[in-house]
Amino acid sequence: MSERTHSAHPVTPSLVGRTAGKRIPVYLAKGLIDHIGRALNPPALPRAVEVVTDEHVHQLLGRRVSAALRRAGWSVNLTILPAGERIKTSATVSRLHERWFDLRYDRQTPIIALGGGTVGDVVGFAAATFMRGLPLWQVPTTIVAQVDAAIGGKVGINHKRGKNLIGCFYQPAGVVIDPSVLATLPVRERRSGLAEIVKYGVISDERLFRTCERHVEAWIDGRAPIPDSAIERCTRIKLRIVAADETDHGPRRALNFGHTLGHAFERWGNYQRFRHGETVALGMVAAGWMAAERGLWTKEQFACLCQVCRHLRPVRLPAFRSKEISIHLGFDKKRTSGHNVWILPRSIGRVDSFADVTDREISSALAFVNVWVRE
Ligand SMILES: NC(=O)c1ccc[n+]([C@@H]2O[C@H](COP(=O)([O-])OP(=O)(O)OC[C@H]3O[C@@H](n4cnc5c(N)ncnc54)[C@H](O)[C@@H]3O)[C@@H](O)[C@H]2O)c1
Ligand SMILES: [Zn+2]
Repeated sequence: MSERTHSAHPVTPSLVGRTAGKRIPVYLAKGLIDHIGRALNPPALPRAVEVVTDEHVHQLLGRRVSAALRRAGWSVNLTILPAGERIKTSATVSRLHERWFDLRYDRQTPIIALGGGTVGDVVGFAAATFMRGLPLWQVPTTIVAQVDAAIGGKVGINHKRGKNLIGCFYQPAGVVIDPSVLATLPVRERRSGLAEIVKYGVISDERLFRTCERHVEAWIDGRAPIPDSAIERCTRIKLRIVAADETDHGPRRALNFGHTLGHAFERWGNYQRFRHGETVALGMVAAGWMAAERGLWTKEQFACLCQVCRHLRPVRLPAFRSKEISIHLGFDKKRTSGHNVWILPRSIGRVDSFADVTDREISSALAFVNVWVRE
């Protein structure tokens, strides 16, 4: 269960996640990035802390984070990786491990993953596997990472056979979320992250969905900032779901809403053509179509989903044949006995899982998306 403690004061967690063996403090407030040293317990003796980030985030935040840690008594070592999905490889993990051996890190050395989901995933995996686990601090700087990747303990890298196929569950020592850092996100990254926020609305929070309906355009074009409360609601939902099902065998699958076909589109685009959230928007509409065809929810509810996703879908999607996309469904990790488990909505705020979705339903949903995306 996640629980609200109190204020956003840096030393008091705003939320606490619980898993079988661990209590995970989550600090969430604007400006926290300059107080990050107060979230980690200050070192009794001068001690090293490792900050790993990517080149873009380093430019924006590297110095501020290092300075905040130094003020709290840490001696900071900084590693800067290239930006983007290409860092999620075993080569990056080996490189980090080599460096950490050279620097004589031990099992008390905190590792701070400062960046989006790519940094969080690969650095988290390196931390999880170095000497069987170093304390990992997730400091997410994209929407995707703040509402999703940094919470829940999934860390990993890609394999030539597919995305995120090598990894493990490794809960962080803590998570520090500063929504003010999102101000510098490029518009495409913002849209991608907003698709995940809409996802939380559909699976569990109708109020959040209605807020997205009203503000999605202003959030995308930067006329209004995404409110901290939206980030917090998503974080809270994720903590609650992970507490109920850390290893993805039951309720956690709801988080996969829009992702079954989303992943297939992503793979079809060689993980380059689209941002993750853009394909999740397509996947949510496809799942919404199936739910409407099955009579699980009304055409009006489906129309609301389509209306929001209109702002989040890829700007240009080449026409496709259904088979070109569905052929990639076989690679999804979340399969049981050869069947993909589909998450379909029953209303805005409630979903269920289904293992009996037929090829015909998939083709029909893809045919709908093929037309809708060009409307
Ligand atoms: N572990 C999980 O549970 C989980 C969940 C969702 C996604 N993921 C993974 O996360 C990755 C995607 O993460 P992402 O969408 O955050 O992408 P990303 O980490 O690649 O970041 C996107 C871009 O934004 C830049 N950036 C980051 N923060 C910025 C800021 N504040 N201002 C300006 N630019 C900034 C980055 O340098 C990068 O160029 C994928 O690899 C995906 O598999 C993991
Ligand atoms: Zn996602």
